[in-house]
Amino acid sequence: MQAIKNAWQEAKKSVTWTKKDIQDLQGLTILVTGATDGVGLECARAYAEHGAHVIVHGRNKEKGDEAVADIKETASITAKVELMLADLTVLDEVRKMVDQYKKLDYPLHVLINNAAIQAPKGHRGEHTKDGIEITFASNYYGPLYLTELLLPIMKKTPPAGGITKRIVWVTSIGSQLANPPVLKTDLIPWNDLKAEHYHESDWWQYARTKLFNLMAVREESRRLEPDHIDVVAAHPGMAVTDHFGKADTEHKLSSWMIETWANSPIGQTKEQGAIALEYAGVSPDVNGKNGWYVGTPELGLVNVGNAHIKEHPNAPLANNPEACRRFYNKTLAILKQSDPSFEPASGPIEESYVRSL
Ligand SMILES: NC(=O)c1ccc[n+]([C@@H]2O[C@H](COP(=O)([O-])OP(=O)(O)OC[C@H]3O[C@@H](n4cnc5c(N)ncnc54)[C@H](OP(=O)(O)O)[C@@H]3O)[C@@H](O)[C@H]2O)c1
Repeated sequence: MQAIKNAWQEAKKSVTWTKKDIQDLQGLTILVTGATDGVGLECARAYAEHGAHVIVHGRNKEKGDEAVADIKETASITAKVELMLADLTVLDEVRKMVDQYKKLDYPLHVLINNAAIQAPKGHRGEHTKDGIEITFASNYYGPLYLTELLLPIMKKTPPAGGITKRIVWVTSIGSQLANPPVLKTDLIPWNDLKAEHYHESDWWQYARTKLFNLMAVREESRRLEPDHIDVVAAHPGMAVTDHFGKADTEHKLSSWMIETWANSPIGQTKEQGAIALEYAGVSPDVNGKNGWYVGTPELGLVNVGNAHIKEHPNAPLANNPEACRRFYNKTLAILKQSDPSFEPASGPIEESYVRSL
């Protein structure tokens, strides 16, 4: 009975939560990837407005400078907001950005892994110099590398502001396309996790990366439990951003339908979409909710401007700890092929999982 009461209290809190409910964030340093546009920009703005030191990550200096100026205009001209650049598809750039972060000796309380793209225009189906297909690289491998390289900093950062340290992976309903809850089939190319031999860079590829994000949450939450770092997934719901404008997908009809939905009166603004990210990143309600999911995993299309907490995502593989452990280890091993000096800070690469089918 008490458990039901608690769940109800929690649900009530989460469905009425908006960015106005963000507490004073002074003393927290928060890095938001892909904060030069869309829901990432709004999330970074909300944190800056509440006093956090915000690192706006982007890949384009001009756009990044504009985003910082825009945030300062609404937060305050003295807000601590600064830009760091790295194209997530280029591992060298990611490492350089982390080196820069280390030199500045900043702490890191919260990392929001938000940046993502779908079949980037003009680069559809391309592979990086490490042989990783471009959507896989930007939405999973680059963010994974960034997370692992930043982890030593986060681990030694003392918690502050009454919240646990957090890593938030931004996912999508797309994860369910790659691994439908009912059919129990999955579209993970287990023997080709770089998608070297996979040339279809469109909706399905994007959907796979959003499932990868969820699987990373499951395994990282296991690995980082002893460090008291909560790893959480967040789903913005369908929000009006330029996400589709940047895509070059084969699936024109479905993209058009989704874009039309997002732009319709039942779609959400990017400010509304950002609420789930903001909540997952800094709400004290999420303390200890390691491995949880914020945002509606049912249809996932709308959060109606709220931040619902759900215990688990729908994609079955994301709830299979052994599959997630296998996946995570295999993908760490792929990063190690590209960078032999890479030692994951979440824990060693487990060879038995790398070799398993
Ligand atoms: N909008 C939705 O309806 C929706 C629904 C479900 C999930 N999501 C998820 O929400 C997140 C944000 O999407 P959004 O709709 O806000 O998209 P968006 O407006 O296009 O913003 C994406 C951000 O990621 C950056 N980015 C993309 N590729 C990058 C790379 N290779 N290196 C560095 N930065 C890169 C973009 O930089 P530029 O500014 O240079 O382009 C931008 O700052 C994504 O994880 C997406 O999967 C969105």
